[in-house]
This record gives sequence, structure tokens and C-alpha cells, in this order.
Amino acid sequence: MTKYKKFLNGFEYIEVSNKSARAKIALQGAHLFHYEQQGKKPLLWLSETSFFVAGKAIRGGVPICWPWFGKHKTESSLPQHGFARIFFWELLGVNETDENSTEVSLQLKNSAESLKLWPYRFELLLRVTVARTLSIALTTKNCDEKAFEITSALHNYFAVANINSVYVEGLDKTRYFDALKKENKIQRGNIYISEEVDRVYQEVRNPLTLHDQDRTVHIGAEGSSSAVVWNPWIDKCAGMSDMKDDAYKTMLCIETTNALEDGRILQPDEEHTLTAVIS
Ligand code: BG6
Repeated sequence: MTKYKKFLNGFEYIEVSNKSARAKIALQGAHLFHYEQQGKKPLLWLSETSFFVAGKAIRGGVPICWPWFGKHKTESSLPQHGFARIFFWELLGVNETDENSTEVSLQLKNSAESLKLWPYRFELLLRVTVARTLSIALTTKNCDEKAFEITSALHNYFAVANINSVYVEGLDKTRYFDALKKENKIQRGNIYISEEVDRVYQEVRNPLTLHDQDRTVHIGAEGSSSAVVWNPWIDKCAGMSDMKDDAYKTMLCIETTNALEDGRILQPDEEHTLTAVIS
């Protein structure tokens, strides 16, 4: 079953439900902000104080960072993580494949507004498969006459029972850029979170595994060889207007990315798909 819904302020989203899972996707940003397997706790974290207003990214779920990840390379006034997460997408269709699986497709194309921020013609397609396994596939097509480069992220926020008992497996011996210290380092062993963490891993061999107190989440990826691990910890969290002071204890971002050297150059007519498969 799929329902079209609105918050009181008019903010639109669709709610998808089948025998296996339930999800909510906002039309702004094609932003999946809720996913749960039937009978289980939500898999994605959503801030209790997130904004649901035009022009502001939702804090939680899976923001789409595109066509640049993080700060813009040269123009600091441009929006962090690009504009796809704050633009309004068109709902192309909902396919109730079978009683256990629903595929939702959304599209964003260049517009006068996007061309002011990024001077290229493009088509972006997001396909979200809501099933026992969650799959999110973001396809970029270059519709311009010149090549362009994109960096991007499916910025997955995972809900965790207690950050102190969480660890991430799969990145041992993987090199990363520590965005806090501005240094390149090598991961040793699993990742435990006991301070602010903001890292871009390269040459990642997927899948990654998030071990939480009472569940294990596998994060597979296609079209990606990088991943970001982020937790704002105490001070940064306290300084964020859309996160409660203690929110860092119940979330961890393990993002499926094309970040830094894993950015992709697309020639005219060329396509690239970045996919996260979460189970
Ligand atoms: C992460 C970045 O992907 O997103 C962090 O690595 C950043 O540096 C975080 O702080 C949140 O970004 P934003 O723009 O949603 O506050």
C-alpha cells in the first residue's frame, strides 16, 4: 500500500508499506526518512528535532548529497553537500512488485535554479526498493555537452541502541582521510566510537557491518569504493539546532559514497549509479 501524505505545513511525503517493510520518503530531496522491517525497530535514525520545511535538509534517514559531497571545492557560499537534498523531486512511479517489495522512483532534472548553483544539464534518478532488504540506487546521467565531475553520498544515518557498544567491521587496514585532523591514516581493526569521528575511507571492500547491541546491519555498495563514517559526538551535537544534545548516542552515519578521489567524471550521455544495499 502506498499513501501520499503531508505534514500540517504542507511538507509532502509518501508512505509505503508491504508485508516486509515500511518506509517514508519526502519529495523534497527524495529523502527516505523512515525505514523499518515489519515488526522490528526503525533501522534508520531520525532526529526528534529535525526540520521538515522547504529548503532545509531533514536530519536523519538517507540524505542525498549531490553533485558535491561536503563543502563545495571553491565556493564556500554554496550549500554543503550540494543541492539535491533540498530540491523538490518528481515522483515518477510506485511499483508494488509483489506483496513483499515496493519500488519507488523519483527524478530530479536540471532547472534554472540548479544551473545557478552548478552549470550542467543532468538527470538524476533515485530508485528505492522497500523490502526485507532496503536498496537505494542513485543514477546520474550527464545530459550536457561537456563532461562533469560529481562527488556524492547516500548519507545513511543508522539508529543504534548505544553508541558506546557499537562497532563497525570491514575497514581494517583501509586508508582514510581524517576530516577533523586533515590527515591521511590507516584503520587498524574495527571502528569503535568514543569521540567525534569524521572519516572518508578509500578503496573500501564492501560490505561493511554495523554491530549494535541487539542487531547486525550489513551495508553493501555498488558503484562506490569509498565510505564515510561520521558521529558528531558531544560538542558538535550540542551546537546543532536540529539535534538534541544527547542525540549522538543513538546514531551513526555509515555513508555509501563517491567521495574525494572516488569522485566520478561523466562524459556527455554517460551514466553512473551509486547503490546502497542495506539488510
Ligand atoms: C558528513 C560529513 O558526511 O556530514 C560531516 O563528513 C558533516 O563533515 C556531516 O558534518 C553532516 O553534514 P550536514 O551538512 O548535514 O550538517
